[in-house]
Amino acid sequence: MASIQQTLTGIMEWVDARLPVTETYEKHMSKYYAPKNFNFWYIFGVLAFVVLINQFLTGIWLTMSYVPTGDGAFASIEYIMRDVEYGWMLRYMHSTGASAFFVVVYLHMFRGLLYGSYQKPRELIWVFGMLIYLALMAEGFFGYLLPWGNMSYWGAQVIVSLAGAVPFVGDELMTWVRGDFNMSGITLNRFFALHVALLPLIILILVVLHILALHEVGSNNPDGVDIKKHLDKDGVPLDGIPFHPYYTIGHDLPAIILFLFIFCAVMFFYPDGGGYLIEHPNYEPANPLKTPNLIAPVWYYTPFYSMLRAATYPLFGMTAKFWGLVVMAGAIAILFVLPWLDRSPVKSMRYKGWGSKIFLTLFIISFFILGYLGTIHPTPIKTIIAQICTAIYFSFFLLMPWYTSVEKTKPVPERVTK
Ligand code: HEM
Repeated sequence: MASIQQTLTGIMEWVDARLPVTETYEKHMSKYYAPKNFNFWYIFGVLAFVVLINQFLTGIWLTMSYVPTGDGAFASIEYIMRDVEYGWMLRYMHSTGASAFFVVVYLHMFRGLLYGSYQKPRELIWVFGMLIYLALMAEGFFGYLLPWGNMSYWGAQVIVSLAGAVPFVGDELMTWVRGDFNMSGITLNRFFALHVALLPLIILILVVLHILALHEVGSNNPDGVDIKKHLDKDGVPLDGIPFHPYYTIGHDLPAIILFLFIFCAVMFFYPDGGGYLIEHPNYEPANPLKTPNLIAPVWYYTPFYSMLRAATYPLFGMTAKFWGLVVMAGAIAILFVLPWLDRSPVKSMRYKGWGSKIFLTLFIISFFILGYLGTIHPTPIKTIIAQICTAIYFSFFLLMPWYTSVEKTKPVPERVTK
């Protein structure tokens, strides 16, 4: 009688002859050779994955009790919070997950800037990443309207009204986006469809493409050294180790556990994040007659919101609002072309010159300041600060071809350093 082992092997062989399961597992896990010098900054891709799964699962369960209508939405959220078994937990897992997503994605992107992971041959990984980022922003925006709280309503009102700044077709565009002459149940309904069906699908497809593109060229590393230059007699990189089990168990699992501790601490003890994760006006139902004292988007959009508000002068016959829109769109668009702006012969910040280091530091500081300014009321002096920070933000990119080509770089080692 065949042993269990033999039976399982037989089944696997049968499947493999029809679907390359083992081959795919080996290509992407046990025989995917990742550089052996990954550090702390290399955990955020996996964490983004963990949060993505959390958002999908909790989202599906929330949808089971959520009512996507103007009359029912707010009440259904209250129902989820008070009556549905563990509904409060599902909701807070999802709302905390939204912010956690942006925390890990921002850190993940910062790692890319730090180690030049977007440089040749990884441009496509970066471009897919940027498309994910864009889709995530849209996903967050549509999701924020769903509780139909007062900030949901007014936040969406402000953002949708930006479409009104588009010359000639602005008003029609706004009506088209809302599906109505005002924010209404119809708008809520279409945002729901986009939030639960279209965008999750797009994000999932993009994440798959992101990983496929990564595994095609191989991971970068903190030294920015190409590990494929030094292979053993079997063609395995000397500085590479199999992703599974070395990174999955030894690197990612401890990081996931630590992350879950922090995540649970926020979710259980500080789910509204002092008004930064769930804004206080959102505990009141949407009210078209009561504008919140301060309309500000959630923290992860505020750097861009600040840039939008920093445009205060009408120019060439166009309104300041139009130019704000251009600046904001430009701030995101310029990230897409980053791989083609960096002319440095080296990848990692470890070996780049002072120009890159100073500009990256200024860029990060101004991004934080813009983020903060976007959460508070503008004043003339704060607007000037926002304008300066916006200028720094753009000069980081626009001057990059210059400072990365003139600065003095350090010699890059042949092999990884640790
Ligand atoms: C749902 C969101 C995302 C997921 C699940 C995800 C997942 C991953 C994973 C698992 C890796 C390999 C592990 C690692 O290097 O950390 C990776 C690498 C990478 N990701 Fe993402 N990512 C996401 C968003 C982004 C975004 C928004 C960007 C940038 C715009 C980006 C840029 C990159 C780059 C450049 C690499 C290669 C890094 C290297 O080899 O050094 N990713 N991503």
